[in-house]
Amino acid sequence: MASLVSNREPSAQQLGELRQKYEAAGQGHVFKYWDELGSAEKGELYNQLLTIDPNRINELVDRALNPPKDVEKPVLEPLPESATASILDSDPKDIERYYNLGLKLVAENKVAVVLMAGGQGTRLGSSAPKGCYDIGLPSHKSLFQIQAERIAKIQALAGNNAVVPWYVMTSGPTHKPTEEFFEQHGFFGLDRANVKFFEQGVLPCISNNGKILLETKSKVAVAPDGNGGIYQALITSGVREDMRKRGIEHVHTYCVDNCLVRVADPVFIGFAASKGVDIATKVVRKRNATESVGLILQKNGKPDVVEYSEIDKETAEVKDPKNPSILKFRAANIVNHYYSFRFLETIEEWALKLPHHIARKKIPSINFETGETVKPEKPNGIKLEQFVFDVFPLIPLEKFASIEVRREDEFSPLKNARGTGEDDPDTSKRDIMQQGRRWVEKAGGSVVADGEDTGVEVSPLISYGGEGLEFLKGKEVRAPAVIEKTADVQ
Ligand code: UTP
Repeated sequence: MASLVSNREPSAQQLGELRQKYEAAGQGHVFKYWDELGSAEKGELYNQLLTIDPNRINELVDRALNPPKDVEKPVLEPLPESATASILDSDPKDIERYYNLGLKLVAENKVAVVLMAGGQGTRLGSSAPKGCYDIGLPSHKSLFQIQAERIAKIQALAGNNAVVPWYVMTSGPTHKPTEEFFEQHGFFGLDRANVKFFEQGVLPCISNNGKILLETKSKVAVAPDGNGGIYQALITSGVREDMRKRGIEHVHTYCVDNCLVRVADPVFIGFAASKGVDIATKVVRKRNATESVGLILQKNGKPDVVEYSEIDKETAEVKDPKNPSILKFRAANIVNHYYSFRFLETIEEWALKLPHHIARKKIPSINFETGETVKPEKPNGIKLEQFVFDVFPLIPLEKFASIEVRREDEFSPLKNARGTGEDDPDTSKRDIMQQGRRWVEKAGGSVVADGEDTGVEVSPLISYGGEGLEFLKGKEVRAPAVIEKTADVQ
């Protein structure tokens, strides 16, 4: 949305008042270059500084740098069995029941999805937002397109002209290019009235000694306020209001970088709805005791996420007493969340209480000694971020549930640049293509490959989760292949 604030230079009195506020908070250095600035630049800086409360920033930094410590060793336990299910070993009848319920809720227009796409994707190193990335599939579809087509397919499977509104959270750096990308691609065939972009907040970047950093002499360096910024943004953007008007009751939230994400997954929605919970998560099985993943569990009787760095080796290695071939703490977090709309109606009560965490990053900024802009080689400052899962401990255990899904079917994040060998564009492509191959074979087709590439890309418009591929029975598919239409296979 366009800003209504004019960038007019402030009067001497206005400037004096603001300067005093910053000086009193120990942040007066942000005016260091004021006298060198032209009139428009003065207006820009003044208006940006007006939107920041330096005292609040000091408090956030102080709390983030000195988080409350656990007084006693926390008691960790897996979630109670009654709150969990597993696609790996639940009765298939239960999974089918969840699927049918979820699809019915989609058909009743009660399901929405929220995409978190405000991250800067620094590790991937692409200048465009991550969702625009082409992972190298034969079709060259972007992550956004894959997700859009899954939404289209789930709407079609539900029938009844169902609509699953798609709310795309962006941030300062990703907002414009994301909107433009959707425009350029005709919203990937979705009805644009059901795709809404909304922007999360930003916070100033801070030096290692607590000072607000400047990106240029007339601009404070800012960064998105973390994926936990979603909660405030849902209110301030009007997204929650839009959901209310549409009669949404169930919300699926996910990260842009997971190429296997089952957007608006009926199994997940049906599972959470039948448990009557306020928040549910999807998890995958932790590969081994040393894998660096966050775990979903209960901590001191509350649902929580515990990072791998917070869990000791002994605890990480404990086996499940019921099945010693697997770990007791194995529920790896893949940031796929379900929220009841009822719960989102309570955001005001807790969103401001969520803590901020520090992320030490390389932040291009002005060196206050030389006045030059520097692109640091190593982390030179702090970004303040809220985490989307910090709400978990705020709800009672009985309002939280978790479902284990197959990693090879549902989780392959794009985090790193090509060539890293882990969570990079090649692993994303491989995981989609190998899933396609499994689907073809399950449907009774065969895959023959001349070279090393044995994968098949199956368009989401043909199949959401492996269903509807009966036409492949007895057919031969030559890999690498892409199946966009049934006619692609003779
Ligand atoms: P990551 O923490 O992996 O960050 O985000 P990133 O931006 O993708 O990558 P790096 O760390 O800079 O390399 C996990 C998910 O949370 C979203 C991201 O877009 C991604 O879907 N996210 C992250 C936001 O929506 N907003 C944020 O402020 C941060």
